[in-house]
Amino acid sequence: MKKVLITGGAGFIGSHVVRLMVKKYPDFQIFNLDSLTYAGNLANLADIENQPNYHFIKADILDMEVINGLFEKHDFDVVLHLAAESHVDRSITNPLDFIYTNVVGTVNLLNAARKFWQRPFEGKLFFHISTDEVYGSLGQEGLFTETTAYDPRSPYSASKASSDHFVRAYHHTYGLPIVISNCSNNYGPNQFPEKLIPLFINNIIHMKPLPVYGKGENVRDWLYVEDHARAIDLIMQKGKNGETYNIGGHNEWKNIDLIRLMCKIMDKKLGREPGISESLITYVKDRAGHDLRYAIDASKLQSELGWKPSLQFEEGLEKTVDWYLNNNDWLEHVTSGQYQNYYREQYEKR
Ligand code: NAD
Ligand code: DAU
Repeated sequence: MKKVLITGGAGFIGSHVVRLMVKKYPDFQIFNLDSLTYAGNLANLADIENQPNYHFIKADILDMEVINGLFEKHDFDVVLHLAAESHVDRSITNPLDFIYTNVVGTVNLLNAARKFWQRPFEGKLFFHISTDEVYGSLGQEGLFTETTAYDPRSPYSASKASSDHFVRAYHHTYGLPIVISNCSNNYGPNQFPEKLIPLFINNIIHMKPLPVYGKGENVRDWLYVEDHARAIDLIMQKGKNGETYNIGGHNEWKNIDLIRLMCKIMDKKLGREPGISESLITYVKDRAGHDLRYAIDASKLQSELGWKPSLQFEEGLEKTVDWYLNNNDWLEHVTSGQYQNYYREQYEKR
């Protein structure tokens, strides 16, 4: 029996990780710690909330006293740390929030692990879930490997890079058992509609303009969220202490090509004339410091731990579109209230 603390479990990726753990490990106690920011939503976990091995704790990783109290009380064996401010555009508007949660929050958790876990940390693991954005931006060629030098270029990626450095520093300085994963862009059910795919799905449903930043030529490497969750599970079980694992879909798409594909799928699903959704495409002012291309070399994870993505992108995208179309209540709920202000501030001036 293990006690697993998952931070940020009410968010997009976190909720898929929580579900996988709760279902796959009935003998483990799974604790989901989340402060429920705008991005956290317990409706994401409605299907498993009554499982006897699932526990929700509403808490902020910045609240050191509460965090210490929880480590003392529960003596967690594993921490899967996903809680973060995760949206690049918000980090451009308000960098400090990212420094607090992503850097200070991570160090709070590291301090609690260091303080309450018995040396030599037998059976303990601090697993930090990070992003490929720490490696910076690629030109037309090449892939990010685990040894690519860090070169973060947005406040979000700088805060994640900083948190990665602290996790490694606690490993080297205090001997804390850690692993870090750096993953490419995720997509799938339950993603908050501030990110490209769900924002565009929502706008297509409502026949609103589709705001393509710059020329739409930036490239991202897309991975279905459940494949990321499976990779996290595998690394938790088999990853080597102190190691880093890149996770990615070998699935690069220029934004504009992905958007056109999404428009085609949605025209079909919504019974609209072909071309209707594409006519909503509107080129707007580019994101400041917009990274050109991300692409992950995930061969270490594949060769050492036997992971590979399970879904073709077209199949995953259709599944995702279906999920949003079938979960209109979820979408309506998260796009009411504050979201409208966010949308106005972010897009009206562009
Ligand atoms: P998300 O924004 O959907 O969810 C973040 C969750 O963290 C929310 O539930 C939120 O309430 C919670 N949270 C935020 N601040 C908190 C705090 N101070 N205390 C406690 N809880 C807090 O994010 P996501 O897209 O699911 O990303 C999860 C993690 O994976 C992040 O660390 C992110 O950097 C990383 N990541 C994301 C992607 C991606 O494509 N989304 C790719 C690679 C890595
Ligand atoms: O690479 C992993 C990262 O992927 C994660 O660490 C981040 O948490 C996650 O948000 C994501 O970052 P991106 O900035 O790549 O994702 P986003 O969905 O915001 O944007 C994807 C691409 O689409 C990017 O090139 C910007 C563009 N875009 C985005 C939005 C929201 C648009 O053209 N228009 C938009 O309205």
